[in-house]
Amino acid sequence: MSNYYIKNLEEYFQIYRKSVREPENFWEEIAEEHFVWRKRWTNVMRWDFSKPEVVWFENAKLNITENCIDRHLHIRGDKTAILFEPNDPKEKVQHITYNELYERVCKMANVLKEQGVKKGDRVCIYLPMIPELAVTVLACARIGAVHSVVFAGFSSLALATRINDCDCKMVITSDGSNRGAKTIDLKSIVDTALEDCPGVESVLVVKRINSEVDMKEGRDQWLQPLLDKASSQNAAEIMDAEDPLFILYTSGSTGKPKGMVHSSGGYMVFTAYTFKNIFNYQENDVYWCTADIGWVTGHSYIVYGPLANGATTVMFEGIPTYPDHGRFWEVVEKHKVNQFYTAPTAIRALAKESLDFVDKYDLTSLKVLGTVGEPINEEAWHWYNNNIGRNKSPIVDTWWQTETGGIMISPIPYVTPTTPTYATLPFIGVQLALMDENGQELEGKQVEGRLCIKYPWPAMARTIWGDHKRYHDTYFSAYENMYFTGDGAKRDAVGYYRITGRVDDVIIVSGHNLGTAPIEDSINEHPAVAESAIVGFPHDIKGNALYGFVILKEIGESRKPDNLRKEINQQITEHIGPIAKLDKIQFVPGLPKTRSGKIMRRILRKVAAKDTSDLGDISTLLNPEVVEAIIKDAL
Ligand code: WT7
Repeated sequence: MSNYYIKNLEEYFQIYRKSVREPENFWEEIAEEHFVWRKRWTNVMRWDFSKPEVVWFENAKLNITENCIDRHLHIRGDKTAILFEPNDPKEKVQHITYNELYERVCKMANVLKEQGVKKGDRVCIYLPMIPELAVTVLACARIGAVHSVVFAGFSSLALATRINDCDCKMVITSDGSNRGAKTIDLKSIVDTALEDCPGVESVLVVKRINSEVDMKEGRDQWLQPLLDKASSQNAAEIMDAEDPLFILYTSGSTGKPKGMVHSSGGYMVFTAYTFKNIFNYQENDVYWCTADIGWVTGHSYIVYGPLANGATTVMFEGIPTYPDHGRFWEVVEKHKVNQFYTAPTAIRALAKESLDFVDKYDLTSLKVLGTVGEPINEEAWHWYNNNIGRNKSPIVDTWWQTETGGIMISPIPYVTPTTPTYATLPFIGVQLALMDENGQELEGKQVEGRLCIKYPWPAMARTIWGDHKRYHDTYFSAYENMYFTGDGAKRDAVGYYRITGRVDDVIIVSGHNLGTAPIEDSINEHPAVAESAIVGFPHDIKGNALYGFVILKEIGESRKPDNLRKEINQQITEHIGPIAKLDKIQFVPGLPKTRSGKIMRRILRKVAAKDTSDLGDISTLLNPEVVEAIIKDAL
């Protein structure tokens, strides 16, 4: 009998050791006992990181939605699966039971099929955090279509790039979305995007805000009438464990986003098993992850992981500051939330406000707190621990990535003693390595290096859509036989891991992974700009904010610098979205470069952080004189 639940530290170590010594036996037992398969695998796993090729549960057949919905119906059909908390606290909450979820997913699956979506087709989902988003994701999975959810804060250009990259034939969107006191016109963003997406044949539109929208004849249809006519029974498509379940885009070090492709069998096993153990979910608990389903956190820990465990998962449409800074805690009290999972940036923003917003509410239901997306600083950790957890709820600082599919480093609550700012120990089955710059593994305690993973885990991404070479080059070429995460980390005297941050050109702003390259590409398209470089600098709420160093084309550019700054940010908003806007823009005469022409971001980072006392040796630069000019005018 495998143990699905880790009860104490000794047991953690024992299970961990087994998962490393006999990974195949370990995952086979978990897969066998806790999931329903239509056909058993012929081989647990096979791998070759040099290609890279990774296969889990080879030749097994399943449908993930049968695991997330159907199998629960006879035991917990009337239990709430999705608890929808709308943006407006006065609007009615929705309790969607497993029975209702089944019906809604089947109807949606039938609509997709009637509209010509077939197994393997890609469907783009551009929706706010409303139940239809989860339902559509599951409906795609039910018929074997590959969903590509694009966060509904991305611009039309970013949306078009993502639609075209994986040839989506259908887009599902809404007439708009509610974000605090604002509404956003999603449909017109889609309309603009689709001017450049010839492959999209149809658009289904959810009515959410009752706004007037243009419906293009022959392409656009309201979803509800189609659902009304659809049957509420749908036989799930039988999928291969390795068939792609979804594509999710993440930034890379070139302008083009990477469409990470996730499988269905391994992804299901890993997200479900991590969810159960890392949040210590018990049958009658109410679990809330505040992320958006547009990010991987929402895929794995709002939809698939919780539902595979028959959990009640809260979906929140709003923002933490509407109608006031107490909204999170109001919702915790209202639904007696037991597990609460959020981002450090949200904690920092709320910690700035009066504790009255917290103290008004009864938070005694909370048993486990979680954070994800970026390193949590000590101050925010203590605020969260003291004021929200009342020193009683352990904080699980969970490290993982879009590429890893599920949580890789995290304490087990009530099992692993926590230390502020430490993600602590590798999860079961996760084999970490710290590497030095010469490609040597750093053994032992108290070392710091680049974080790598030496052995496959079931939820790892299998490829980048349409570019397997890029998948290899980005993750498997830095170190032989290792997956390279792009993060730095240190291992302390007790073996705990602390993530020190990105060591590549990715900057994490408010928990969002932004590549420098796409933002620089956007800035450089401005007619007045010759060249640019952006770096992150410490920001007390966002963690990092963006600082742009921009060289203008002609001296004597007639527009006022502030107008230019606005235009540049406007352009970034159009190309990528408001999350990528720059906090500071400094116009500079040049950028410090090595003799081979590489921008020395290290120096720019120091300027942005106002820490230029020790710049190291700059005499080898191509243009050491610009450094002084940059420091003189630093913002
Ligand atoms: C990058 C991945 C995982 C879902 C959300 C982000 C950073 C993530 C932590 C953490 C320190 C963290 C890393 C990672 N990160 N979690 N607990 N402590 N850093 O997914 O957009 O793919 O970003 O987020 O730098 O590489 P993502």
